[in-house]
Amino acid sequence: MNRREAIKSTGILASSIFLSPQLINQEQEMSYSKTDFGKDFHWGTATASYQVEGAYQTDGRGMSIWDTLSHISGKVKNNDTGDVACDFYNRYESDLEIMKSMNFNAFRFSISWSRILPEGTGKINPKGIEFYHKLIDKCLSLGITPFITIYHWDLPQTLEDKGGWTNREILNWFAEYTEILTKEYGAKVKNWMILNEPVIFGGFGYLMGHFAPQRKGLENFLPAVHHISMVMGVAGRIVRKNVEKAIVGTTFSCGVIDPLKDTKEDKQGAAAQDAYWNRMFIEPVLGLGYPKETLKWLEGIDKYVQEGDMEKLPFDFDFVGVQNYSRMVVTHDPNDKLFGSRGVDLKKELKINEKDITSIGWEVYPEGIYRILKQYGAYKNVKQIIVTENGAAGNDKESKNGEVNDPQRVKYYKEYLKNVLKAKKEGVNVGGYFAWSYMDNFEWMEGYSQRFGIVYVDYPTQKRIIKDSGKWFKEFLK
Ligand code: NOJ
Repeated sequence: MNRREAIKSTGILASSIFLSPQLINQEQEMSYSKTDFGKDFHWGTATASYQVEGAYQTDGRGMSIWDTLSHISGKVKNNDTGDVACDFYNRYESDLEIMKSMNFNAFRFSISWSRILPEGTGKINPKGIEFYHKLIDKCLSLGITPFITIYHWDLPQTLEDKGGWTNREILNWFAEYTEILTKEYGAKVKNWMILNEPVIFGGFGYLMGHFAPQRKGLENFLPAVHHISMVMGVAGRIVRKNVEKAIVGTTFSCGVIDPLKDTKEDKQGAAAQDAYWNRMFIEPVLGLGYPKETLKWLEGIDKYVQEGDMEKLPFDFDFVGVQNYSRMVVTHDPNDKLFGSRGVDLKKELKINEKDITSIGWEVYPEGIYRILKQYGAYKNVKQIIVTENGAAGNDKESKNGEVNDPQRVKYYKEYLKNVLKAKKEGVNVGGYFAWSYMDNFEWMEGYSQRFGIVYVDYPTQKRIIKDSGKWFKEFLK
Protein backbone atom coordinates (compact mmCIF):
# COMPACT_ATOMS: atom_id res chain seq x y z
CA MET A 1 0.00 0.00 0.00
CA ASN A 2 1.44 3.39 -0.92
CA ARG A 3 1.24 6.46 1.30
CA ARG A 4 -1.82 7.87 -0.43
CA GLU A 5 -3.71 4.58 -0.19
CA ALA A 6 -2.69 4.15 3.43
CA ILE A 7 -4.08 7.57 4.27
CA LYS A 8 -7.27 6.87 2.36
CA SER A 9 -7.81 3.61 4.16
CA THR A 10 -7.87 5.40 7.50
CA GLY A 11 -10.53 7.73 6.14
CA ILE A 12 -8.31 10.80 6.05
CA LEU A 13 -8.41 12.88 2.92
CA ALA A 14 -5.00 13.03 1.31
CA SER A 15 -5.11 16.83 1.12
CA SER A 16 -5.44 17.12 4.86
CA ILE A 17 -1.94 16.05 5.73
CA PHE A 18 -0.28 19.23 4.51
CA LEU A 19 -0.17 22.32 6.69
CA SER A 20 -1.39 25.51 5.11
CA PRO A 21 0.97 28.55 5.13
CA GLN A 22 -1.53 30.24 7.45
CA LEU A 23 -1.03 27.49 10.04
CA ILE A 24 2.72 27.65 9.70
CA ASN A 25 2.55 31.39 10.42
CA GLN A 26 0.39 30.77 13.45
CA GLU A 27 2.92 28.23 14.58
CA GLN A 28 5.68 30.83 14.45
CA GLU A 29 3.63 33.22 16.58
CA MET A 30 3.32 30.66 19.35
CA SER A 31 4.83 31.64 22.64
CA TYR A 32 4.80 28.17 24.16
CA SER A 33 5.27 24.59 23.11
CA LYS A 34 4.11 21.14 24.12
CA THR A 35 7.19 20.58 26.25
CA ASP A 36 6.23 23.49 28.54
CA PHE A 37 3.41 21.27 29.85
CA GLY A 38 5.81 18.57 31.02
CA LYS A 39 6.76 15.19 29.68
CA ASP A 40 4.09 13.07 31.37
CA PHE A 41 1.25 15.33 30.27
CA HIS A 42 -1.75 13.54 28.75
CA TRP A 43 -2.75 15.03 25.41
CA GLY A 44 -6.04 13.61 24.28
CA THR A 45 -9.37 14.06 22.63
CA ALA A 46 -12.71 13.05 24.11
CA THR A 47 -15.97 11.51 22.93
CA ALA A 48 -19.01 9.88 24.55
CA SER A 49 -20.83 6.68 23.67
CA TYR A 50 -24.24 8.03 22.70
CA GLN A 51 -22.75 10.93 20.78
CA VAL A 52 -20.57 8.85 18.46
CA GLU A 53 -21.25 5.12 18.48
CA GLY A 54 -24.53 4.70 16.62
CA ALA A 55 -25.36 0.99 16.14
CA TYR A 56 -28.17 1.55 18.60
CA GLN A 57 -29.83 -1.81 18.06
CA THR A 58 -26.76 -3.79 17.09
CA ASP A 59 -25.41 -6.81 18.96
CA GLY A 60 -27.95 -6.73 21.76
CA ARG A 61 -27.65 -3.14 22.97
CA GLY A 62 -30.60 -2.00 25.11
CA MET A 63 -32.34 1.38 24.91
CA SER A 64 -31.14 4.40 26.84
CA ILE A 65 -33.00 7.54 27.89
CA TRP A 66 -31.43 9.40 24.96
CA ASP A 67 -32.77 6.84 22.47
CA THR A 68 -36.20 7.36 23.96
CA LEU A 69 -36.05 11.14 23.90
CA SER A 70 -34.54 11.51 20.46
CA HIS A 71 -37.15 9.19 18.98
CA ILE A 72 -39.97 11.48 20.09
CA SER A 73 -40.74 13.73 17.17
CA GLY A 74 -39.99 17.41 17.72
CA LYS A 75 -37.71 16.96 20.72
CA VAL A 76 -34.17 17.14 19.34
CA LYS A 77 -33.28 19.73 16.69
CA ASN A 78 -34.05 18.42 13.17
CA ASN A 79 -35.35 15.23 14.82
CA ASP A 80 -31.77 13.97 14.90
CA THR A 81 -31.04 10.78 16.82
CA GLY A 82 -27.94 8.84 17.83
CA ASP A 83 -29.10 5.79 15.86
CA VAL A 84 -26.14 6.02 13.50
CA ALA A 85 -24.22 9.02 14.86
CA CYS A 86 -20.60 8.78 13.64
CA ASP A 87 -20.80 5.01 13.27
CA PHE A 88 -17.88 4.79 15.67
CA TYR A 89 -19.03 1.30 16.64
CA ASN A 90 -17.88 0.13 13.22
CA ARG A 91 -15.19 2.71 12.52
CA TYR A 92 -13.29 2.87 15.80
CA GLU A 93 -10.14 1.39 14.29
CA SER A 94 -9.72 3.96 11.54
CA ASP A 95 -10.78 6.72 13.95
CA LEU A 96 -8.08 5.72 16.41
CA GLU A 97 -5.55 5.70 13.60
CA ILE A 98 -6.56 9.25 12.71
CA MET A 99 -6.13 10.24 16.37
CA LYS A 100 -2.71 8.70 16.34
CA SER A 101 -1.83 10.51 13.12
CA MET A 102 -2.57 13.78 14.96
CA ASN A 103 -0.03 12.76 17.63
CA PHE A 104 -2.45 12.42 20.57
CA ASN A 105 -1.34 10.04 23.31
CA ALA A 106 -4.65 9.63 25.17
CA PHE A 107 -8.31 9.05 24.38
CA ARG A 108 -11.25 9.64 26.67
CA PHE A 109 -14.41 7.70 25.80
CA SER A 110 -17.45 6.55 27.70
CA ILE A 111 -19.10 3.18 27.96
CA SER A 112 -22.70 2.64 27.00
CA TRP A 113 -24.35 1.12 30.07
CA SER A 114 -27.12 -0.46 27.99
CA ARG A 115 -24.60 -2.10 25.65
CA ILE A 116 -23.10 -3.90 28.65
CA LEU A 117 -26.33 -4.47 30.56
CA PRO A 118 -29.26 -4.10 28.14
CA GLU A 119 -31.73 -4.14 31.03
CA GLY A 120 -29.57 -1.93 33.24
CA THR A 121 -28.84 -4.78 35.67
CA GLY A 122 -28.73 -8.57 35.49
CA LYS A 123 -27.92 -10.19 32.19
CA ILE A 124 -24.58 -9.16 30.69
CA ASN A 125 -24.30 -8.69 26.92
CA PRO A 126 -21.10 -10.45 25.75
CA LYS A 127 -21.05 -8.53 22.46
CA GLY A 128 -21.06 -5.25 24.34
CA ILE A 129 -18.21 -6.42 26.55
CA GLU A 130 -16.28 -7.51 23.48
CA PHE A 131 -16.68 -4.17 21.70
CA TYR A 132 -14.93 -2.21 24.45
CA HIS A 133 -12.19 -4.84 24.70
CA LYS A 134 -11.49 -4.35 21.02
CA LEU A 135 -11.57 -0.58 21.38
CA ILE A 136 -9.19 -0.66 24.34
CA ASP A 137 -6.86 -3.11 22.61
CA LYS A 138 -6.69 -0.90 19.56
CA CYS A 139 -5.83 2.12 21.74
CA LEU A 140 -3.07 0.17 23.44
CA SER A 141 -1.66 -1.15 20.18
CA LEU A 142 -1.32 2.44 18.97
CA GLY A 143 0.25 3.70 22.19
CA ILE A 144 -2.85 5.72 23.09
CA THR A 145 -3.73 5.66 26.80
CA PRO A 146 -7.44 4.92 27.29
CA PHE A 147 -9.42 7.02 29.81
CA ILE A 148 -12.82 5.49 30.55
CA THR A 149 -15.84 7.53 31.61
CA ILE A 150 -18.23 5.11 33.29
CA TYR A 151 -21.31 7.29 32.86
CA HIS A 152 -21.83 9.95 30.22
CA TRP A 153 -25.59 10.44 30.48
CA ASP A 154 -27.03 7.44 28.58
CA LEU A 155 -28.92 5.79 31.43
CA PRO A 156 -30.64 2.52 30.46
CA GLN A 157 -34.31 3.25 29.89
CA THR A 158 -35.30 0.31 32.11
CA LEU A 159 -33.65 2.07 35.07
CA GLU A 160 -35.30 5.39 34.31
CA ASP A 161 -38.60 3.51 34.33
CA LYS A 162 -37.83 2.65 37.95
CA GLY A 163 -37.14 6.28 38.83
CA GLY A 164 -33.64 6.74 37.43
CA TRP A 165 -31.46 9.01 39.52
CA THR A 166 -34.33 9.82 41.89
CA ASN A 167 -34.35 6.20 43.12
CA ARG A 168 -31.74 5.42 45.78
CA GLU A 169 -31.47 1.94 44.30
CA ILE A 170 -29.29 3.53 41.64
CA LEU A 171 -26.39 3.22 44.08
CA ASN A 172 -26.70 -0.55 43.75
CA TRP A 173 -27.35 -0.52 40.00
CA PHE A 174 -24.31 1.65 39.43
CA ALA A 175 -22.19 -0.51 41.73
CA GLU A 176 -23.14 -3.63 39.77
CA TYR A 177 -22.27 -1.93 36.47
CA THR A 178 -18.95 -0.63 37.83
CA GLU A 179 -18.00 -4.06 39.20
CA ILE A 180 -18.47 -5.54 35.75
CA LEU A 181 -16.48 -2.84 33.94
CA THR A 182 -13.58 -2.80 36.34
CA LYS A 183 -13.26 -6.59 36.44
CA GLU A 184 -13.36 -6.76 32.64
CA TYR A 185 -11.14 -3.87 31.70
CA GLY A 186 -9.18 -3.08 34.87
CA ALA A 187 -6.11 -5.05 33.85
CA LYS A 188 -5.76 -2.92 30.71
CA VAL A 189 -7.15 0.46 31.74
CA LYS A 190 -5.81 2.43 34.69
CA ASN A 191 -7.51 5.81 34.19
CA TRP A 192 -11.16 5.90 35.17
CA MET A 193 -13.73 8.67 35.51
CA ILE A 194 -16.96 7.94 37.34
CA LEU A 195 -19.30 10.62 36.01
CA ASN A 196 -19.47 13.19 33.29
CA GLU A 197 -20.73 16.60 34.42
CA PRO A 198 -23.24 15.89 37.23
CA VAL A 199 -24.69 19.40 37.16
CA ILE A 200 -25.61 19.09 33.50
CA PHE A 201 -27.31 15.70 33.47
CA GLY A 202 -28.70 16.25 36.96
CA GLY A 203 -29.85 19.84 36.41
CA PHE A 204 -30.98 19.70 32.80
CA GLY A 205 -32.37 16.17 33.21
CA TYR A 206 -34.17 16.40 36.58
CA LEU A 207 -34.71 20.07 37.37
CA MET A 208 -35.10 22.08 34.20
CA GLY A 209 -36.59 19.34 32.02
CA HIS A 210 -34.34 20.16 29.10
CA PHE A 211 -32.25 16.99 28.70
CA ALA A 212 -33.30 13.34 28.98
CA PRO A 213 -35.30 12.21 30.90
CA GLN A 214 -36.82 15.72 30.93
CA ARG A 215 -38.05 15.68 34.50
CA LYS A 216 -38.58 18.86 36.44
CA GLY A 217 -38.87 20.28 39.91
CA LEU A 218 -36.99 20.10 43.18
CA GLU A 219 -38.86 16.94 44.17
CA ASN A 220 -36.99 15.16 41.37
CA PHE A 221 -33.81 17.18 41.46
CA LEU A 222 -32.93 16.99 45.16
CA PRO A 223 -32.98 13.20 45.47
CA ALA A 224 -31.11 13.01 42.15
CA VAL A 225 -28.42 15.39 43.44
CA HIS A 226 -27.88 13.30 46.54
CA HIS A 227 -27.70 10.00 44.68
CA ILE A 228 -25.40 11.44 42.02
CA SER A 229 -23.11 12.75 44.76
CA MET A 230 -23.13 9.46 46.65
CA VAL A 231 -22.45 7.36 43.56
CA MET A 232 -19.07 8.99 43.00
CA GLY A 233 -17.70 7.48 46.21
CA VAL A 234 -19.56 4.19 45.80
CA ALA A 235 -18.09 3.63 42.34
CA GLY A 236 -14.74 5.23 43.17
CA ARG A 237 -14.17 2.65 45.92
CA ILE A 238 -15.04 -0.20 43.53
CA VAL A 239 -12.52 1.05 40.98
CA ARG A 240 -9.85 1.19 43.69
CA LYS A 241 -10.74 -2.31 44.88
CA ASN A 242 -10.71 -3.98 41.46
CA VAL A 243 -8.09 -2.07 39.50
CA GLU A 244 -4.50 -2.35 40.53
CA LYS A 245 -2.76 1.06 40.42
CA ALA A 246 -6.04 2.72 39.43
CA ILE A 247 -6.09 6.45 38.78
CA VAL A 248 -9.60 7.52 39.69
CA GLY A 249 -11.27 10.75 38.74
CA THR A 250 -14.63 12.25 37.94
CA THR A 251 -15.48 15.28 35.82
CA PHE A 252 -17.26 18.55 36.47
CA SER A 253 -18.70 21.11 34.11
CA CYS A 254 -17.51 24.44 35.46
CA GLY A 255 -16.82 28.04 34.55
CA VAL A 256 -16.41 31.35 36.28
CA ILE A 257 -19.52 33.39 36.99
CA ASP A 258 -19.16 37.17 36.85
CA PRO A 259 -21.70 39.73 38.08
CA LEU A 260 -22.70 42.21 35.39
CA LYS A 261 -22.60 45.16 37.78
CA ASP A 262 -20.57 45.77 40.88
CA THR A 263 -23.66 45.78 43.09
CA LYS A 264 -24.56 43.72 46.12
CA GLU A 265 -27.55 42.19 44.30
CA ASP A 266 -25.59 41.16 41.21
CA LYS A 267 -22.79 39.75 43.33
CA GLN A 268 -25.26 37.74 45.39
CA GLY A 269 -26.85 36.46 42.20
CA ALA A 270 -23.42 35.43 40.90
CA ALA A 271 -22.58 33.66 44.18
CA ALA A 272 -25.83 31.65 43.96
CA GLN A 273 -25.09 30.59 40.39
CA ASP A 274 -21.54 29.72 41.38
CA ALA A 275 -22.82 27.51 44.20
CA TYR A 276 -25.07 25.70 41.75
CA TRP A 277 -22.84 25.34 38.68
CA ASN A 278 -19.42 25.07 40.29
CA ARG A 279 -19.73 23.95 43.91
CA MET A 280 -22.83 21.79 44.49
CA PHE A 281 -21.29 18.50 43.31
CA ILE A 282 -17.60 18.86 44.02
CA GLU A 283 -17.85 20.15 47.59
CA PRO A 284 -19.71 17.20 49.16
CA VAL A 285 -17.22 14.83 47.52
CA LEU A 286 -14.38 16.83 49.05
CA GLY A 287 -16.02 16.52 52.46
CA LEU A 288 -17.29 20.10 52.54
CA GLY A 289 -21.01 19.31 52.43
CA TYR A 290 -23.65 20.85 50.16
CA PRO A 291 -23.39 24.65 49.77
CA LYS A 292 -26.69 25.19 51.59
CA GLU A 293 -25.68 28.52 53.13
CA THR A 294 -25.64 30.05 49.63
CA LEU A 295 -28.50 28.06 48.09
CA LYS A 296 -31.17 27.96 50.77
CA TRP A 297 -33.42 25.58 48.81
CA LEU A 298 -30.69 22.95 48.95
CA GLU A 299 -31.73 22.42 52.57
CA GLY A 300 -34.58 20.32 51.16
CA ILE A 301 -31.97 17.67 50.36
CA ASP A 302 -31.87 16.60 54.02
CA LYS A 303 -35.04 14.61 53.39
CA TYR A 304 -33.01 12.24 51.19
CA VAL A 305 -29.85 12.08 53.29
CA GLN A 306 -29.78 8.93 55.41
CA GLU A 307 -27.77 8.41 58.55
CA GLY A 308 -24.08 8.01 57.79
CA ASP A 309 -24.40 9.29 54.22
CA MET A 310 -22.38 12.46 54.73
CA GLU A 311 -19.52 10.39 56.19
CA LYS A 312 -19.60 7.96 53.27
CA LEU A 313 -19.93 10.63 50.63
CA PRO A 314 -16.36 11.99 50.41
CA PHE A 315 -13.88 10.23 48.16
CA ASP A 316 -10.22 11.06 47.64
CA PHE A 317 -10.06 11.24 43.88
CA ASP A 318 -6.64 11.08 42.25
CA PHE A 319 -7.76 13.77 39.85
CA VAL A 320 -10.66 16.02 39.14
CA GLY A 321 -11.74 16.56 35.54
CA VAL A 322 -12.41 20.19 34.69
CA GLN A 323 -14.65 20.74 31.66
CA ASN A 324 -14.70 24.34 30.65
CA TYR A 325 -15.90 26.17 27.56
CA SER A 326 -16.95 29.66 28.55
CA ARG A 327 -18.03 31.85 31.45
CA MET A 328 -21.36 33.19 32.58
CA VAL A 329 -22.22 36.80 33.33
CA VAL A 330 -25.31 37.29 35.48
CA THR A 331 -27.47 40.06 36.81
CA HIS A 332 -30.02 40.35 39.61
CA ASP A 333 -33.49 39.06 38.73
CA PRO A 334 -36.10 39.05 41.50
CA ASN A 335 -38.32 36.76 39.43
CA ASP A 336 -35.80 33.96 39.38
CA LYS A 337 -36.73 31.66 42.24
CA LEU A 338 -33.56 29.53 42.25
CA PHE A 339 -30.78 32.08 42.00
CA GLY A 340 -32.28 35.56 42.17
CA SER A 341 -30.32 36.18 38.98
CA ARG A 342 -30.22 35.36 35.29
CA GLY A 343 -27.59 35.09 32.57
CA VAL A 344 -27.26 38.27 30.50
CA ASP A 345 -27.58 38.63 26.75
CA LEU A 346 -24.03 38.53 25.39
CA LYS A 347 -24.61 40.90 22.50
CA LYS A 348 -27.13 43.34 23.93
CA GLU A 349 -26.10 43.59 27.54
CA LEU A 350 -22.42 42.63 27.43
CA LYS A 351 -21.69 44.06 23.97
CA ILE A 352 -19.66 41.02 23.01
CA ASN A 353 -18.53 41.04 19.42
CA GLU A 354 -20.19 38.40 17.24
CA LYS A 355 -16.82 36.85 16.40
CA ASP A 356 -16.25 36.10 20.08
CA ILE A 357 -19.39 34.00 20.33
CA THR A 358 -19.32 30.42 19.05
CA SER A 359 -22.12 28.97 16.91
CA ILE A 360 -23.79 27.45 19.97
CA GLY A 361 -23.96 30.91 21.56
CA TRP A 362 -21.16 30.63 24.12
CA GLU A 363 -18.69 33.43 24.70
CA VAL A 364 -15.04 32.80 23.84
CA TYR A 365 -13.36 33.74 27.11
CA PRO A 366 -9.89 32.16 27.35
CA GLU A 367 -9.05 33.73 30.71
CA GLY A 368 -11.99 31.81 32.13
CA ILE A 369 -10.15 28.50 32.00
CA TYR A 370 -7.24 30.02 33.91
CA ARG A 371 -9.58 31.42 36.54
CA ILE A 372 -11.59 28.22 37.01
CA LEU A 373 -8.41 26.15 37.23
CA LYS A 374 -7.26 28.48 40.00
CA GLN A 375 -10.66 28.19 41.71
CA TYR A 376 -10.69 24.39 41.60
CA GLY A 377 -6.97 24.14 42.29
CA ALA A 378 -7.50 26.08 45.51
CA TYR A 379 -9.54 23.28 47.08
CA LYS A 380 -7.29 21.60 49.60
CA ASN A 381 -8.24 18.03 48.67
CA VAL A 382 -7.90 18.37 44.92
CA LYS A 383 -4.67 16.52 44.16
CA GLN A 384 -4.56 16.95 40.43
CA ILE A 385 -6.69 18.45 37.70
CA ILE A 386 -7.05 17.18 34.18
CA VAL A 387 -8.85 19.34 31.64
CA THR A 388 -11.11 16.55 30.42
CA GLU A 389 -13.01 18.77 27.96
CA ASN A 390 -12.46 22.10 26.25
CA GLY A 391 -13.41 23.17 22.75
CA ALA A 392 -15.57 25.28 20.48
CA ALA A 393 -18.60 24.74 18.27
CA GLY A 394 -18.62 26.03 14.69
CA ASN A 395 -20.58 25.90 11.46
CA ASP A 396 -17.82 24.10 9.64
CA LYS A 397 -18.05 23.27 5.97
CA GLU A 398 -15.96 21.28 3.57
CA SER A 399 -14.27 23.59 1.07
CA LYS A 400 -14.07 22.89 -2.67
CA ASN A 401 -10.60 21.45 -2.30
CA GLY A 402 -11.73 19.10 0.44
CA GLU A 403 -10.37 21.02 3.44
CA VAL A 404 -12.17 22.23 6.51
CA ASN A 405 -10.83 25.63 7.53
CA ASP A 406 -11.71 26.57 11.11
CA PRO A 407 -9.43 29.48 12.02
CA GLN A 408 -11.66 30.55 14.96
CA ARG A 409 -11.24 27.15 16.56
CA VAL A 410 -7.46 27.18 16.04
CA LYS A 411 -7.36 30.55 17.77
CA TYR A 412 -9.64 29.31 20.53
CA TYR A 413 -7.39 26.35 21.30
CA LYS A 414 -4.22 28.40 21.22
CA GLU A 415 -5.58 30.96 23.64
CA TYR A 416 -7.22 28.51 26.01
CA LEU A 417 -4.08 26.37 26.13
CA LYS A 418 -2.01 29.44 26.90
CA ASN A 419 -4.25 30.04 29.90
CA VAL A 420 -4.03 26.41 31.01
CA LEU A 421 -0.27 26.74 30.95
CA LYS A 422 -0.44 29.98 32.92
CA ALA A 423 -2.41 28.24 35.69
CA LYS A 424 0.00 25.33 35.62
CA LYS A 425 3.00 27.64 35.91
CA GLU A 426 1.36 29.30 38.89
CA GLY A 427 1.20 25.99 40.69
CA VAL A 428 -2.09 24.36 39.72
CA ASN A 429 -1.25 20.69 39.19
CA VAL A 430 -2.69 20.19 35.71
CA GLY A 431 -1.87 16.73 34.39
CA GLY A 432 -3.56 16.60 31.01
CA TYR A 433 -5.74 18.22 28.41
CA PHE A 434 -8.47 16.66 26.26
CA ALA A 435 -9.98 18.53 23.34
CA TRP A 436 -13.72 18.20 22.92
CA SER A 437 -14.17 16.61 20.61
CA TYR A 438 -12.18 14.21 18.50
CA MET A 439 -14.87 14.52 15.81
CA ASP A 440 -18.19 16.25 15.13
CA ASN A 441 -20.98 14.33 16.80
CA PHE A 442 -24.49 14.30 18.25
CA GLU A 443 -24.66 17.45 20.36
CA TRP A 444 -27.63 16.42 22.53
CA MET A 445 -30.67 18.68 22.00
CA GLU A 446 -28.80 20.43 19.18
CA GLY A 447 -28.51 17.20 17.21
CA TYR A 448 -25.83 17.38 14.54
CA SER A 449 -26.24 21.13 14.01
CA GLN A 450 -23.28 22.01 16.24
CA ARG A 451 -19.86 20.79 15.21
CA PHE A 452 -17.28 20.54 18.02
CA GLY A 453 -14.79 18.20 16.34
CA ILE A 454 -11.22 18.77 15.31
CA VAL A 455 -12.10 16.15 12.72
CA TYR A 456 -15.01 16.90 10.41
CA VAL A 457 -17.66 14.24 9.83
CA ASP A 458 -19.58 14.22 6.59
CA TYR A 459 -22.62 12.42 8.00
CA PRO A 460 -24.16 11.06 4.78
CA THR A 461 -20.90 9.32 3.79
CA GLN A 462 -19.20 9.12 7.22
CA LYS A 463 -16.06 10.51 5.61
CA ARG A 464 -13.64 12.10 8.09
CA ILE A 465 -11.57 15.19 7.27
CA ILE A 466 -9.00 16.54 9.68
CA LYS A 467 -9.87 20.21 10.19
CA ASP A 468 -7.21 22.90 10.36
CA SER A 469 -7.56 22.74 14.15
CA GLY A 470 -6.70 19.04 13.99
CA LYS A 471 -3.70 19.85 11.82
CA TRP A 472 -2.71 22.49 14.30
CA PHE A 473 -2.71 19.90 17.11
CA LYS A 474 -0.77 17.52 14.92
CA GLU A 475 2.01 20.09 14.51
CA PHE A 476 1.86 21.24 18.12
CA LEU A 477 2.09 17.70 19.46
CA LYS A 478 4.76 16.53 17.05
C1 NOJ B 1 -20.14 18.69 27.72
C2 NOJ B 1 -20.45 17.24 27.52
O1 NOJ B 1 -19.73 16.40 28.34
C3 NOJ B 1 -20.42 16.80 26.07
O2 NOJ B 1 -21.18 15.66 25.98
C4 NOJ B 1 -20.89 17.92 25.18
O3 NOJ B 1 -21.03 17.50 23.86
C5 NOJ B 1 -19.93 19.07 25.27
N1 NOJ B 1 -19.74 19.47 26.65
C6 NOJ B 1 -20.33 20.28 24.44
O4 NOJ B 1 -21.55 20.75 24.87
